[in-house]
Amino acid sequence: MARPDAAPTTRDRAGPGPGPGSGGGGTGPRLMRRKPVERLIAEGGQGEGGRLRRSLGMWQLTMISIGATLGTGIFVVLGEAVPKAGPAVVISFVIAGLTALFSALSYAELAGTIPVSGSSYSYTYATMGEFIAWLCGWCLMLEYGVSVAAVAVGWGQYLNEFLDGTIGVTIPTALSAPPGDGGIINIPALLVVLLAMGFLLGGAKESARANTIMVVVKIASLILFCAVAVAGVKAGNYKPFMPLGMSGVSAAGASLFFSYIGFDAASTAGEEARDPKRDMPRAIMLSLLIVTALYCLVALIAVGAMPWQHFHNADAALAQIMRDVTGQSFWAVLLAAGAVVAIASVVLTVLYGQTRILFSMARDGLVPKVFAKVGPRSGTPVANTVIVSLFCGVLAAVVPLGELANATSIGTLFAFALVNVAVIVLRRTRPDMPRTFRVAFSPVTPAIGFALCVWMMTSLGAQTWVWFGIWMAAGLVLYFGYGIRRSQLAREDVPVS
Ligand code: ALA
Repeated sequence: MARPDAAPTTRDRAGPGPGPGSGGGGTGPRLMRRKPVERLIAEGGQGEGGRLRRSLGMWQLTMISIGATLGTGIFVVLGEAVPKAGPAVVISFVIAGLTALFSALSYAELAGTIPVSGSSYSYTYATMGEFIAWLCGWCLMLEYGVSVAAVAVGWGQYLNEFLDGTIGVTIPTALSAPPGDGGIINIPALLVVLLAMGFLLGGAKESARANTIMVVVKIASLILFCAVAVAGVKAGNYKPFMPLGMSGVSAAGASLFFSYIGFDAASTAGEEARDPKRDMPRAIMLSLLIVTALYCLVALIAVGAMPWQHFHNADAALAQIMRDVTGQSFWAVLLAAGAVVAIASVVLTVLYGQTRILFSMARDGLVPKVFAKVGPRSGTPVANTVIVSLFCGVLAAVVPLGELANATSIGTLFAFALVNVAVIVLRRTRPDMPRTFRVAFSPVTPAIGFALCVWMMTSLGAQTWVWFGIWMAAGLVLYFGYGIRRSQLAREDVPVS
């Protein structure tokens, strides 16, 4: 791959530890070779045979982050979290939101300092070296690639609910569930991924436009929910407020963390943003604030309108509340339509994020170069988009994702924890770098962000840790079997100094 002339080839003056290159070093130095920040930035947009197109403004970036965040969590996971915490589920949302907020501050600082498309993978490559960066990128595949499949499965369920409410027909289980869940193939899940692929192949700007419309629809459906359901709120439903104690609140918080995953999606668009240094930090913070406010409001009204014990048996809790409060199923169908759109936009934006992270990893040589090929007409990574979509589509269609989907949260928390560390490292090694956004009270704030992520990871179940261990072991095999030798830095043979 042709590198821009401006790209420095010498060792990052970032400080201690070996620089890029394999020459002269053992495995240790090779694992720690870092990619200089200036080089990451200089390579921005550059793919195999073409460049990504810069077309996204601040609002579109914010919409990408909201698009990737607001979906299954509020429409589905809320209903599962209320029986754990009671009305205090509102506090669970605040706790999960705080965990996200501390990491969002760190994301905002790094996105404004290293405005590329690789998100936390690139930030760790610049600060902690190739091996940790690979682990981070591998975890991002859980946050993005695997979660696309999990979210697509949820989409099929809401589609059926919508079809049932409008035309009285549902897609039979054989065609809407994978083999392990009593079906043969999940056609709706495959369909929504292929639909998203179609948009992404059309170009980043076109996808962002479609996403913006979908985000407006999903925010409108949640506001509509609040406006209608508030009429059913009874003060008695808030008592007792914390029936299952603080342990219930934190258990619900750990599962609700899933609903915040995605606020970092704007950081995968650094090479297609018009003014990434200025706009990416703003987009990350703004999207998180909007989403948190909506979540808390929806949760407060939902537990006020339906006794918390009733959430046990409610499949689509928000739709049921609409039906109970109004006495008409029309409102429930409308909400199901909103959920169909909401979850589709999560699929679109998260799929987008996955392709861009792989784009960065391919440019660095850690995955095959085909992922960095840019189509001359669309200015998008075409082959990458098709391969990732087919992979995620098939995964969603034939694999029951239950436990693997839980692994999404643990992988995301691992990546977030690394981003907090990266802020501290970059402040020490490159204090001089211009930063458009600075985390206040560093290193205390990112250290709290790191601790919160680790604490959340420990509240996830043993089975989730087993899946995580298997996933990471597969990642190690791939890195030592492929990436360590194919890495662009290894090929340049810059001696380790
Ligand atoms: N936060 C995303 C959702 O709730 C993953 O669907």
